[in-house]
Amino acid sequence: MKMSSLGLLASMCMVLMLVAGVHCWSKEGHIMTCQIAQSLLKPEVDEVVRHLLPPYAKGDLSSLCVWPDQIRHWHKYQWTSPLHFIDTPDDACSFDYARDCHDPHGKEDMCVAGAVTNFTSQLLHYKEGTADRRYNMTEALLFLSHFMGDLHQPMHIGFTSDRGGNSIELRWFRHKSNLHHVWDREIILTAEKDYYEKDMTLLLQDIEANYTDGAWSDDTSSWTHCDDLDSCPSKYAAESIAIACKYGYKGVEPGVTLADDYFDSRMPIVMKRVAQGGVRLAMFLNRALGDDDGQEEGVASPT
Ligand SMILES: *[C@@H]1O[C@H](CO)[C@@H](O)[C@H](O)[C@H]1NC(C)=O
Ligand SMILES: *[C@@H]1O[C@H](CO)[C@@H](O)[C@H](O)[C@H]1NC(C)=O
Ligand SMILES: *[C@@H]1O[C@H](CO)[C@@H](O)[C@H](O)[C@H]1NC(C)=O
Ligand SMILES: [Zn+2]
Repeated sequence: MKMSSLGLLASMCMVLMLVAGVHCWSKEGHIMTCQIAQSLLKPEVDEVVRHLLPPYAKGDLSSLCVWPDQIRHWHKYQWTSPLHFIDTPDDACSFDYARDCHDPHGKEDMCVAGAVTNFTSQLLHYKEGTADRRYNMTEALLFLSHFMGDLHQPMHIGFTSDRGGNSIELRWFRHKSNLHHVWDREIILTAEKDYYEKDMTLLLQDIEANYTDGAWSDDTSSWTHCDDLDSCPSKYAAESIAIACKYGYKGVEPGVTLADDYFDSRMPIVMKRVAQGGVRLAMFLNRALGDDDGQEEGVASPT
């Protein structure tokens, strides 16, 4: 991990929070997803990724995976704001691209599933040398990497009226929080504190052990099975809203206190989604930026 660039991001984040009331969601989740992904890139793809990153990232994709959250309220990037989530009809517990993937004004494709497809196709054109010169490939890489993470956070695909749990205020153990934030960050922070001496790299090692030869190692080929990069994001969105209904919203009323029971039962789900997001991001990047035509499964062995 490159502390200098992360430190810079963290302080930018603080300034934004003070100045604009912007929240910096799910820093840890995005960083872990991107670290997992980068460790699974084919060598030639890792090279392209490093080439696209600005020099101050020092080749570390994860150091900039939170960037899209930091700029979403800047005037220049306001168009990206609806790309972090999907509002689905209350209690429908399903995702339908044509019904749900639009911004609040009804503009089609402006949701996190549409964004993943959009930036994947920009990177594919880049590799093929047919990139639209208007598009910035560094930004395409960072947006794809961030939005693949958001797509896997179950509460980013939530109900419309409570804004994905953001307006469900509650207590997380002893402090105030909301349901969206519990899934974005609280569960990960509590896990780090209780089990990993607040050291994210120890947590990440456990997650990696689980998908390389532990509890999830038999599942990873199904995670990366994808016949068509254009439509797989919809599948991931459907998984997220199903989890949001079954485990996120389940038994949660405004004003409740969530503690050990909720934490113990939901933590494994959050960790698995972080891993799935990372493994799938690697698959997308390997297929979009790799040397062959990208038909094979595309997850190299971990390095
Ligand atoms: C795709 O990206 C371009 C800029 O790179 C942007 O103008 C467009 O709105 C994006 N669409 C979606 C669905 O993300
Ligand atoms: C692409 O975007 C990055 C991040 O916003 C920026 O630093 C860089 O200057 C842009 N590159 C071009 C060629 O516009
Ligand atoms: C790894 O898998 C085990 C067994 O399913 C589970 O108990 C543990 O919580 C997992 N660890 C992480 C960090 O996901
Ligand atoms: Zn986001």
